Amino acid sequence: MGKILEVKDLITRFHTFDGVVHALSGVSFDLEEGEILGVVGESGSGKSVTMMSLLHLLPSPPARIEGGRALYHGDGEPVDLLQLSKAEISRIRGGKIGFIFQDALSALNPVMTIGKQISETLIQHLGHTASQAKKRSIQLLEYVGIPEPEQRFSCYPHQFSGGMRQRAMIALAVACEPKIIIADEPTTALDVTVQAQIIELVQRLQKEMNMSVIWITHDLGVVAGMADRVLVMYAGTVVETARVEDLYYRPSHPYTQKLLGALPRMDSTGRHRLESIDGAPPDMLFKPAHCQFAWRCDHAEKKCMKEIPKEREISSCHQAACFFDFHKKEDVHER
Ligand SMILES: Nc1ncnc2c1ncn2[C@@H]1O[C@H](COP(=O)(O)OP(=O)(O)OP(=O)(O)O)[C@@H](O)[C@H]1O
Ligand SMILES: [Mg+2]
Repeated sequence: MGKILEVKDLITRFHTFDGVVHALSGVSFDLEEGEILGVVGESGSGKSVTMMSLLHLLPSPPARIEGGRALYHGDGEPVDLLQLSKAEISRIRGGKIGFIFQDALSALNPVMTIGKQISETLIQHLGHTASQAKKRSIQLLEYVGIPEPEQRFSCYPHQFSGGMRQRAMIALAVACEPKIIIADEPTTALDVTVQAQIIELVQRLQKEMNMSVIWITHDLGVVAGMADRVLVMYAGTVVETARVEDLYYRPSHPYTQKLLGALPRMDSTGRHRLESIDGAPPDMLFKPAHCQFAWRCDHAEKKCMKEIPKEREISSCHQAACFFDFHKKEDVHER
């Protein structure tokens, strides 16, 4: 298995009337072929801005990508997504990289039938004829579990229930058999049963199409159940990266430990949303000059208030951005 995406030192800032918002201050991560990468972190930590930066979906201005690269190893030579022209990225977006958002209503075009939206994507990216596209769209609707797909083909998004709309958006996202799916809180608005069905669907599609998935969520239970690796974000940086079992059993960054401290048990049932932890996140209008977590951290020392910690290897697939080694010795999440 190789890397399908390598993001290095991504810096994105918003130039607003109030000043410069340091939304991403050097985000780095890799995505392996065929893996599910969970992304967690408090509200405002930069999860969505990271993915929007890669897909050129940020409002510009005020957003500006001011550094970094994002190498996509699709077919042939790797390309830097950040350097692509509008035409080039729109060939990749929706074709090679699909995306699913929380709010299907805003992602789907309200005045175009579901079938037409999927067909147009197939025509645009894969060069299907209109009749091929219609046939394939109906297959896709059926594939994602929409009953009576032939009739549903001609429905508008508002005629679908929330769960069905999410399925339709997934059909659209996987229509061109993309290499990568980026899902940003895709199940937050749904009730628990529908959420479980959508997760199952994405897991099945991921296996059958051998896609890589980036799954952003506030729900640590979801991450534990489906991700291979997890990225923990805090104040526009990645503070810890680990295989899911290492993250839960041996969290290394004090921020991750606090997040998991709020999680009763990894194997218990129900949903576990990230609980808020003491203190507020830093004001992103200030340029980071020291560890951004220092003043909420129980272990902070002078150094933490003066310098930005670099990412440190805990093991070959486990990194944390902290000066100290805070492996949790006692296994609080023991089954
Ligand atoms: N249009 C904008 N103008 C100014 N700042 C913005 C804008 N969009 C996002 N930001 C800032 O960028 C930072 C990262 O935001 P982002 O939306 O990526 O957070 P998130 O981790 O996705 O949070 P959530 O869990 O709430 O979705 C935040 O500080 C946010 O205030
Ligand atoms: Mg977000």
